[in-house]
Amino acid sequence: MNDFFRRFAGMPRRDFLTHAGAGLLGAGVAAATARAADADPADAPFAVVHGPVVQSPGTGEVTVTWHTNRPATAAVRCAVDGGEERVFVTSRDGLIPNDSTSHAVRVTGLAPGKPFTYTLVSREFKGYRTPYEVTHGETLTSGPFTCTPTDPAERPFSFIMWNDIHDKGKLLASMFDDTDWDDVDFVVLNGDIINDCITEQQAFRAFYDVCAARFGASLPLVFVRGNHETRGPWARRLREVVPGRGGEYYYSFPHGGAHFVVLDSGEDKPDGNKEYAGLVEFGSFRERQTRWLEADLASEAAKAARWKILLTHQPPAFEPDDGFGMREVRRLWQPLAEAAGARLWLSGHTHSFSWVRPGGAGGKTFHTVVNPPDATLRVDVRPEALRVTVTQQGGKRLHEEEIPA
Ligand SMILES: [Fe+2]
Repeated sequence: MNDFFRRFAGMPRRDFLTHAGAGLLGAGVAAATARAADADPADAPFAVVHGPVVQSPGTGEVTVTWHTNRPATAAVRCAVDGGEERVFVTSRDGLIPNDSTSHAVRVTGLAPGKPFTYTLVSREFKGYRTPYEVTHGETLTSGPFTCTPTDPAERPFSFIMWNDIHDKGKLLASMFDDTDWDDVDFVVLNGDIINDCITEQQAFRAFYDVCAARFGASLPLVFVRGNHETRGPWARRLREVVPGRGGEYYYSFPHGGAHFVVLDSGEDKPDGNKEYAGLVEFGSFRERQTRWLEADLASEAAKAARWKILLTHQPPAFEPDDGFGMREVRRLWQPLAEAAGARLWLSGHTHSFSWVRPGGAGGKTFHTVVNPPDATLRVDVRPEALRVTVTQQGGKRLHEEEIPA
């Protein structure tokens, strides 16, 4: 343990909040959020005001995210694989961030599929007296929380997906209320959750706070960027709330015998469209992902998985006159998914329910599902079949299907 870690691990602290097992699935620090939000920002006590929300799973890895009301340095303390407590921090080019209220710490080396307990350590950073002397405020510890990292080994599990919420955080919360959370191992938000990125607060209201209140500390969130998350003055700062993995919004992860591929389908019109004011370059971005996808699906991890499941905001086009973005998804990524024998492709974007079986207008090997904005899509993964149910808010079952292996 180096000096920095010792400072975090051993310093006197005010235990901020203890939430292990609290709430439905281990809620975040919502009560403290409300108190801090009520106070004048300058007079408010230093506090965690949003989160935690655990994101972007990988084998034995998760990114823990949270937000403080003033800039801070951040660490996550946890016991890895039942051993000695370790402290994880984020650094960029060797420097630990001290000027941000947004915190994202990658925790690695966890035992796949085994719950681990963690606490957040937030130390207010007040500034530099000189380049060699800094001033800190209070140090808060938040937690403990418990989360289970994903696990490649085959076993039954479930996951749930929502999409196209377009800032309607209350709708998302009400669908959370109607959801059966039994056996759910992670949650997918498949794009256009924010209706054009104007402010950071918008992201908190649209999904972050309701996720934190319901499951964010306990279940990994897989956030798939949609075209509306690429728009607006705050779009280039989306990473402050949704960090992705390894600095990217496309990645894969194995879990329970399935190989999940997350891709970023970008904007839905050509880059030269006047809506984008010459400020986007999604053509080359999608091409880069295509090269990555080819290698990913050829990997031993992908080949070993019984199920290949793709997650993109825009679905592959079904008809020749579907939008440009959907046609690009089909042109670039569908042949690779077919060659790998993918069985399921989950999307949103069109705001209307679609289920396209293999062949015909869809991919040769996979079912394509477009989940509407007001519906919950649940997948129960079993060795013998994928069971997919799409349920509209209010309980109406839009579709139910078993996809055999
Ligand atoms: Fe969309």
